[in-house]
Amino acid sequence: MATKLPSSGELPEGQHAGCDTSGLVLVHRIFRWLYRELPLLVRDVDDGDLSRAAVVGRYAHLDFYALHLHHHTEDIALWDRLTSRQPACALHVEQMKSQHAEVAAQLARLEPQLDPWVATADARLRDGFAGDIEALRDTLQAHLRQEEDDIMPVASAVLSQQEWDWMEEHTRATLAADRKTLGKDVLSLQLGLLIASVPPGERDEWMRRNIPAPIRLLYLLLMKRHYDRAMRELYPDRPVPAMV
Ligand SMILES: [Fe+2]
Repeated sequence: MATKLPSSGELPEGQHAGCDTSGLVLVHRIFRWLYRELPLLVRDVDDGDLSRAAVVGRYAHLDFYALHLHHHTEDIALWDRLTSRQPACALHVEQMKSQHAEVAAQLARLEPQLDPWVATADARLRDGFAGDIEALRDTLQAHLRQEEDDIMPVASAVLSQQEWDWMEEHTRATLAADRKTLGKDVLSLQLGLLIASVPPGERDEWMRRNIPAPIRLLYLLLMKRHYDRAMRELYPDRPVPAMV
């Protein structure tokens, strides 16, 4: 991993309990959107259409990778700290752990189906694959809601802002480290999706407050083009479905 693993237990010296967890709602919006859209995109691929299966297959792979990374990051940053600082939330934490395990099991069922479908664009493989993605989507929807209801309030009370922000830093560092295999536009996709998760009327202000000026400039000059190209590739003949 590119960034230092967090410690659990006591707050690090000089840090204070209490943090703004609202960014997680945006990340969850992205996952709801990705997994709502993915089965539709897969089902739309015609039997034998190898080039379209390759396009959709690449994004399916990225969606699976992103979900693994998001959950792994939560696993190492949240659970031990929450239970050691707020023992009353142990039951909810156990529920989160078992839901993460269920998501991991569903991903493990899905991932071996990706290459055979991409290699053949076979309609029967497609339908089985899409059906399993829909099952994962439903598991995920319930998990994300419960995490927002039961975990976010505790996390915002007992974690420091530095501990919370570590999750975003770790995510970005891991994506950067893996961009050779994921595709060099992967950080542009992440930032573009994050911006898309903010309601349009609030985006400029959100970007000013949450994205450092040099990255904002880089996004406008270069990364936005990569993101737009990816969205055109995914939705060549219709508008990109809104996330919010
Ligand atoms: Fe989670």
